[in-house]
Amino acid sequence: MLNDLWYKNAIVYCLSVGTFMDANGDGVGDFQGLIRRLDYLQGLGITTIWLMPFQPSPGLDAGYDISDYYNVDPRYGTLGDFAEFAHACHQRGLRVMIDLVVNHTSDQHAWFREARSDPDSKYRDWYVWSDKKPRNAQDGIVFPGVQKSTWTYDKQAALWYFHRFYDFQPDLNTANPHVQAEILKVMGFWIQLGVSGFRMDAVPFVISTKGAKVGKPVEQYNMLRTFREFLQWRKGDAIILAEANVLPDTDLEYFGDDGERLQMMFNFQVNQNTFYTLASADTAPLKKALLATRPRPATAQWGVFLRNHDELDLGRLSPEQRATVFAAFGPDPDMQLYERGIRRRIAPMLSGDRRRLELAYSLMLTLPGTPVFRYGDEIGMGDDLRLPERECARTPMQWSTEPHGGFTKHARPVARVISGGPYGYERVNVADQRRDPNSFLNWTERLIRMRREVPEISWGDFAVLRASRNDVLALRYDWRNNSVLCLHNFSAEACTVKFKSGCANPGEDILINLLSDDHSQVAPDGRHSVVLEPYGYRWYRIGGLDYLLKRSEV
Ligand code: NOJ
Repeated sequence: MLNDLWYKNAIVYCLSVGTFMDANGDGVGDFQGLIRRLDYLQGLGITTIWLMPFQPSPGLDAGYDISDYYNVDPRYGTLGDFAEFAHACHQRGLRVMIDLVVNHTSDQHAWFREARSDPDSKYRDWYVWSDKKPRNAQDGIVFPGVQKSTWTYDKQAALWYFHRFYDFQPDLNTANPHVQAEILKVMGFWIQLGVSGFRMDAVPFVISTKGAKVGKPVEQYNMLRTFREFLQWRKGDAIILAEANVLPDTDLEYFGDDGERLQMMFNFQVNQNTFYTLASADTAPLKKALLATRPRPATAQWGVFLRNHDELDLGRLSPEQRATVFAAFGPDPDMQLYERGIRRRIAPMLSGDRRRLELAYSLMLTLPGTPVFRYGDEIGMGDDLRLPERECARTPMQWSTEPHGGFTKHARPVARVISGGPYGYERVNVADQRRDPNSFLNWTERLIRMRREVPEISWGDFAVLRASRNDVLALRYDWRNNSVLCLHNFSAEACTVKFKSGCANPGEDILINLLSDDHSQVAPDGRHSVVLEPYGYRWYRIGGLDYLLKRSEV
């Protein structure tokens, strides 16, 4: 039964087809190339692939400007290639999730083209229009500094149209029942082709009231229930993972009090505070974020992540906290973006320091939720700050020391592979790290393996333990009479941390180290005392003597 809720103990890996592996040598990654790399992904231990948008698109926002929901962009292959890919994943027991971008279409979508040119078209009301420039045309800009407004005049229609994001992404009028029906149809189509769920883009905007007369947009949460019900009628175990950077007091609106809305959401609150803690070694705000996002229905799950394909959004931190993260990880204005975030990859943010990278990923793997990796982070890939906006962290996967990192045989690939310097493919690539037992790749693989064997983190409830030091985070997970305890030292200094595990019976209060052999026995004062290295971490199962004895018998 537990496996039915597969997303609870999943390990997600996110990638874009165009930058992963090019099989036909035209300089763009494709489904055939991705199929060749599935054994690599399976070996890494991930259980679910999340594909960024791959449908036909002018590609002005990395595919988040879709011009046909029912096809594959010819640069990446055909629908047939997608079906082969889905089959190849199923053969290996890997699940597939895809982006569902239905807040807006591309302005090149046939619906918008017809809507703007024909006032009588049924598609006119699929978008959001105004005959005058709305007074709030400057409100709610998502990409400050790049995006100029949220309403643009369209000469053909002689009307203004609403676009929450860039002007080439007209918003769909999601209140229109025909649009809602089409969204379900899009989900139904891809479900039929074998996907297990959707990462739903920009959910708060999809469900918001939209229009020139809307002062403060109001979220229509019940739409979420409609999406979920439809999905489960079509495929019982299909899920939606919401991109919703919202405050904790609305989390339950998204999950539903009884879990009747969306199964998963990314935990942006914990994400931003994680980076603050990595920058400052002050764990208090992270603990607060963990506790604030703790209430959720038993079937719901957080998606926990470090970096994604967008900027690291620090908009929910206080100005002082944000300044601390900027100073530590993105001091140069060119590393910052949209007045709120950092556009770098995580390895250069942490100066390539292996200890800090291990700390960050060990933490991600042991935070409450399902971990979501970004391609290339498992080998510590870097960024190319010469590229504009978020493009800097979307460079091709570095497979080997062959030209263009083995990503393509084409002389001039569409996306440039990072070359030279500490993060160039010559130094950072899969082939080299695969051969080195101590590489970051092999470390990640080991940790993923262990994480999959610790369902307590995915299924259990957690307690933030009172530790003797504020720079150490001590979390305990309890589930079905089993407990797991994780320690993370955010400080650059070695330290001794003391804490009570919470285990009622001192005879059973032994911490069995899951990653090495130094177990911890409780002291007569009822506390554990653990020496941690600079940026050190530990994963323990709270075992009894019984456990140790059994273990030595085997
Ligand atoms: C959120 C996506 O993550 C981002 O990459 C995109 O630009 C916007 N939504 C618009 O679709």
